[in-house]
Amino acid sequence: MRLVLLGPPGAGKGTQAHRLADRFGIPLIATGDIFRNNVERDTVLGREARRYMDAGELVPDEVVVAMVVGALEAAPDGFILDGFPRNLAQAEALETELERTEQPLSAALAFSIRDDTAVKRLVGRRTCTTCQRTYNLALHPPKVGGVCDVCGGRLEQRQDDREDTVRRRLEIYHESTEPLIGFYAGRDLLRTVDAEGSEAEVADRAERAVGLVTGGQGPPARA
Ligand code: AP5
Repeated sequence: MRLVLLGPPGAGKGTQAHRLADRFGIPLIATGDIFRNNVERDTVLGREARRYMDAGELVPDEVVVAMVVGALEAAPDGFILDGFPRNLAQAEALETELERTEQPLSAALAFSIRDDTAVKRLVGRRTCTTCQRTYNLALHPPKVGGVCDVCGGRLEQRQDDREDTVRRRLEIYHESTEPLIGFYAGRDLLRTVDAEGSEAEVADRAERAVGLVTGGQGPPARA
């Protein structure tokens, strides 16, 4: 299974990506997580990415594409891509790379959510600094404050989850990433998922969309 997850910040892509990666037993490639890991370790890539991330802007395409192509080489048996592609140039670069390796996408899952729900989810989000799982102080708190339920790592607020930065990220999503819905619909790869509602409800819809639950849309015939 080779999946791309699309959707605005706060749609729950990361939350659902972890569940799907566990269900399929395939690697999760999350560009935002890779950048944050590099920021934490103060690498050259991390210093470059941080300038853009803290302002809610996109990291330049050449940096992201090279990083994703490297990660795909280590995932020959399938993958879930969360946060990539984010504009047309990235989508075309991904398509070229997957054609070269003869590994076509199975589907693009597009999670849809209202902007006001996204803002509410993001300002309350806390992220595990070790395994990157996410919680929400109001909607889905950890059992023990500040501590990840799964790995015991420290939880913290992301720099880009301040409300003004969240609104800038939503603007960029609508300008640059939303057009990819048409790009993948035109290739008969698009599967839409209503991302309003509880995590369990959204997970059920996502699993139906990729055919893990009988009666779902299922992946396209060529998957
Ligand atoms: P990235 O880390 O990819 O962030 P994002 O796409 O903005 O998405 P988020 O992680 O904010 O939201 P999500 O949809 O994953 O929601 P989550 O599951 O966490 O990118 C960050 C930055 O990196 C970018 O701004 C950019 O600078 C750079 N970058 C990354 N990729 C790039 C690329 N390809 N090109 C250029 N730059 C790139 O959930 C959010 C919250 O809601 C959590 O608190 C969660 O617990 C809660 N929640 C989730 N689902 C539900 C639910 N159903 N009900 C209630 N609460 C829920």
